[in-house]
Amino acid sequence: MIDSYRIRQDTPPCRNILFLNSAGSSLMPRQVLNKMSEYQSLEGEVGGYAAAAMEQHAISGFYIACAELLNTKKENIAFVYNATDGYSKAVSSIPFNSGDYILLTDDDYISNHFLFISLSKRLSINIIRCNNLESGDLDLNDMELKIKKYKPKLVSVTHIPTNSGKIQPIEEVGVLCKKYDVWYIVDACQSVGQLPVDVQKIKCDFLSATGRKFLRGPRGTGLLYISDKALDFGLAPLLIDMEGAVWKDEDQFTVVQNAKRFELWESNYVNIIGLKEAILYAQSIGLRNIEQHNSLLVNELKYGLYLNKELILTENGSYSAGIVTFTSKKHSLDQTKSLLNQHKVSYSIGFRHFALIDFNKKDVDWVIRFSPHYFNTIDEINKVVEILDDL
Ligand SMILES: Cc1ncc(COP(=O)(O)O)c(C=O)c1O
Repeated sequence: MIDSYRIRQDTPPCRNILFLNSAGSSLMPRQVLNKMSEYQSLEGEVGGYAAAAMEQHAISGFYIACAELLNTKKENIAFVYNATDGYSKAVSSIPFNSGDYILLTDDDYISNHFLFISLSKRLSINIIRCNNLESGDLDLNDMELKIKKYKPKLVSVTHIPTNSGKIQPIEEVGVLCKKYDVWYIVDACQSVGQLPVDVQKIKCDFLSATGRKFLRGPRGTGLLYISDKALDFGLAPLLIDMEGAVWKDEDQFTVVQNAKRFELWESNYVNIIGLKEAILYAQSIGLRNIEQHNSLLVNELKYGLYLNKELILTENGSYSAGIVTFTSKKHSLDQTKSLLNQHKVSYSIGFRHFALIDFNKKDVDWVIRFSPHYFNTIDEINKVVEILDDL
């Protein structure tokens, strides 16, 4: 059970705004802000290097907290500057040869598509995509057929896309990747912090996530999980710095044993401290409790929006999490925005070019994206539904 009263006390802005934008950048709990400002003050008093030395224990706690969150070891965790940073470092570590295949889904994140399009131009790599079923679910038979036929070097799946709340079957894909021995990367940017995410169950080689969304950490933070298999194989980012390697011969370096080979030497320690505190906060509530509460909010929201005949829900797939999107044929984006802004609702907008494949299929130019999180209440959900009744 969620203690809404306590959680909302820890999140003072919820008193003034109807905040439904955790998939964009969530509200940090006051505990996170306090820890960050304490650390920032220490840096101001003794200087950045001395502060890091004094707080070494607290900083290394970040890796332990992440490892517990994802059910792995601290040696498999790297701090990164955002999800895309982690994801691109991971992809850069795969030893692609020209002519290799990469298997994606139609719902992978826009920047991940860009990254592979760039790679395909530079290295003559072939991009293929797994089909969806009519329901919007990933067609796992098609995925297996394509893995068998093209023998891709890498499979990438975005756990929950940016443009809808659909949950992709990442554990089932993991079974296929294991069976056919394919490198497997999961973009869990929109799921970590709102669902239990267990890398042992997913069986992925890499998993990237961001700090500022459902984890409620600071901006400019992210985490990357790297499997033992990938580390033992010697995978390391294409461009590495002195944090990730040791210089033994003038023309050679040796990568460090653990996931730190995916980090850069210079970091923002205020942010690391902040992200650690955000993870501890989420764990103190419990990811199962968060998932359950969010599911109540999302079902209520979807039902309310569904009853509003001026709106079109743009969700599909059998399983969904804390993102709900809708559009309108009758009302313009500006009309919809102005109504929500007038009532201090915080939300995001998705345009066709943010999720070209999905929105072309759905034939929508824009969506409003609501992303409730566990500090929201059913009353708030009913309120936003009522506000939209005035369209
Ligand atoms: C599914 C998904 N993946 C990756 C990203 C990129 O995250 P970041 O901005 O932290 O790089 C986002 C951001 O919205 C996202 O929704």
